[in-house]
Amino acid sequence: MPLLAQTQSLRPMTLDDLDLVLKIESQWAPEAWRREHFIEEMNRPYAHCFVMTDDETDAEVFGYIVFWAQAEGLSILNVAVDQHFRNMGIGTRLVQHVIRHAVHEDYPRIVLEVRESNAEAIALYKKCGFKKTHERRQFYQNGETALVLEVKTSEHQAGVQ
Ligand SMILES: CC(C)(COP(=O)(O)OP(=O)(O)OC[C@H]1O[C@@H](n2cnc3c(N)ncnc32)[C@H](O)[C@@H]1OP(=O)(O)O)[C@@H](O)C(=O)NCCC(=O)NCCS
Repeated sequence: MPLLAQTQSLRPMTLDDLDLVLKIESQWAPEAWRREHFIEEMNRPYAHCFVMTDDETDAEVFGYIVFWAQAEGLSILNVAVDQHFRNMGIGTRLVQHVIRHAVHEDYPRIVLEVRESNAEAIALYKKCGFKKTHERRQFYQNGETALVLEVKTSEHQAGVQ
């Protein structure tokens, strides 16, 4: 089993990261994004794409997050952690990065949709302060319901370093 590098950092995703990002994406996503989809997001002016890499080589990708920043708030479109490195706090660090961005740039809220069956992701978001606002039935291709979760930035002002 691969080892998690001693220290890791977040930086903007580049085209060179995409092979590893797609490898992680293919591990989980029922409707996986393709290379073109990530490239489209990397070129979108209001989209932010970040990877968590090892500090030593900066070439190993442990996870990534994609979010949009628009006047009404931030929305998280995609987040995933390599299956060998889950449950080690990387997902939390990725989501906290978005929360910090919202606090520092004065966006009022962060929203996202998550499959109602995705217990790990729901646990991660709840741990980071997200609450369910409503549901979207038949949201996914397989007919599954999406939970819409939100965190208000004002509730995080004090807690984010
Ligand atoms: C969801 C995901 C990003 C979480 O990443 P992660 O690095 O494992 O998350 P963390 O280690 O920071 O864990 C955060 C919390 O999630 C929960 N959690 C993580 N793994 C879990 C598991 N296997 N079972 C139950 N809860 C789990 C725990 O509450 C944990 O908090 P704790 O460590 O204080 O107990 C990861 O499971 C993943 O990549 N899943 C596939 C992609 C996906 O579903 N993305 C979300 C789309 S909306």
